Amino acid sequence: MGNEYEQYIDGQWTAGESTETFTSENPATGEDLGTFYHGTEADVERAVDAAAEAYEDWRALSRIDRAEYLWDVYHELRDRHEELGEIVSMECGKEISEGKADVTEAWHMVEWAAGDARHPQGDVVPSEVASKDAYMRRKPRGVVGCITPWNFPVAIPFWHMAVTLVEGNTVVWKPAEQTPWCAQIVAEMMVDAGIPDGVFNLIQGYGDTGAAIVDHDDVNTVLFTGSAEVGQGIASEVAQYPGKRAACEMGGKNAIVITEKADLDTAVHSAVMSSFKTTGQRCVSSERLIVHADIYDEFKERFVSLAEDVAVGDPLDEDTFMGPLIEAEHHEKVREYNELAHSEDTTVLVDRTDLDDGEIPDGHEEGHWVGPFVYEADPDADLRCTSEEVFGPHVALLKYDGDIERGVELQNDTEYGLAGAVISEDYRQINYYRDHAEVGLAYGNLPCIGAEVQLPFGGVKKSGNGFPSAREIIEAVTDRTAWTLNNSRDIEMAQGLSADITTKED
Ligand code: UN1
Repeated sequence: MGNEYEQYIDGQWTAGESTETFTSENPATGEDLGTFYHGTEADVERAVDAAAEAYEDWRALSRIDRAEYLWDVYHELRDRHEELGEIVSMECGKEISEGKADVTEAWHMVEWAAGDARHPQGDVVPSEVASKDAYMRRKPRGVVGCITPWNFPVAIPFWHMAVTLVEGNTVVWKPAEQTPWCAQIVAEMMVDAGIPDGVFNLIQGYGDTGAAIVDHDDVNTVLFTGSAEVGQGIASEVAQYPGKRAACEMGGKNAIVITEKADLDTAVHSAVMSSFKTTGQRCVSSERLIVHADIYDEFKERFVSLAEDVAVGDPLDEDTFMGPLIEAEHHEKVREYNELAHSEDTTVLVDRTDLDDGEIPDGHEEGHWVGPFVYEADPDADLRCTSEEVFGPHVALLKYDGDIERGVELQNDTEYGLAGAVISEDYRQINYYRDHAEVGLAYGNLPCIGAEVQLPFGGVKKSGNGFPSAREIIEAVTDRTAWTLNNSRDIEMAQGLSADITTKED
């Protein structure tokens, strides 16, 4: 039995009004990692009230003073790297190098946001009128609701919260119900840093708890990272309220285009990383490999052989490449998509949906295990398995003929547009892809995962809007003011507009 943990509202640890609890489960073992309160509407109400109350004093601090709190969090993240990395692996099933990288990405984000506090901000803008000074300045927006996913349970909360807090907003955060323990530790770090009461609030729970945050009148900004279905629901809900804003980053049906000019070592390595790392559970994971006919057979042989061999197992073991899926429900979904690929018009090449008993480590029989699933399909066929996001190690090989234009046409043949890569030794092909692939994150001769926090992170089309992540989040959590000051006693207008006031006497 794990410990029992409370929520953090208005500077206090509290069960809140909640009478219901839920548990966090280790997806590799089924072990119970802790018990948490399922936040209610009343808890959300209290947290939003506290955040609204704390807002005026928090925004009155300088950006540099606000950032000082985050520097403390930065040091604690670094000091507790190993411990927290293991907790990430235990709670969300990512293998240990990924568990630790999640924590590293979190402190990179905190470092970026807190460091940015000492950088120049805003623009000095020219005016047509010599006596006017014009500037673009930013103001915080108030109470920001943050709803974060389980697959990056430490990094993504800081994508949402680090810049948001430095910019002078206050936060009500609802982490994913699958990873409440990681959230608990993040909250403890905020408390250790002495963040003032009400500035940061943690409400644990499920979708209903998140919906109460989205619907609250005093939450005028919602940041969401997660599925396209939930994100679209939030965006349309928020659109009903004038002035309310949602920035959503959602999924993908990401592809890698491997041209006839590709270096095959780079191609195979990039594809395996993109499709199987995190057991395919990144929103940037690749489920489509678009491969030129000239090199298709060799690529296929090498990719299939690795897909058959990659090590699935205990996430805490350094030799593991893929851990389990997050939970039973998701396991069922991946299994159904694998079955769907069998029933649609495809040729299945690797099917490790059910691992051999010998592959499952002792004591891990309750884990949500699945291995790679690879199939070939006609890129022009209208198939659900090649168009819907599975969020698992479920990969289609799509053979194409012709030039890079055709490869990119297939890459763009999806409702989504988050991440993608091109593998080629020909700079003209690479640049064509760069300029025409409809994605927010694009890579050349690399996997399509592993973005760094100083880049904007977000997609186009169904994959999102508003960049609720990394550095571009500043646009979501601040309002710009165009500020113009007159240094003259006379009023002189731009655009040749007359400033004369004429009367009936004139
Ligand atoms: C996600 O895909 O859900 O670019 C987040 C990456 C990581 C973040 C991924 N920095 O792969």
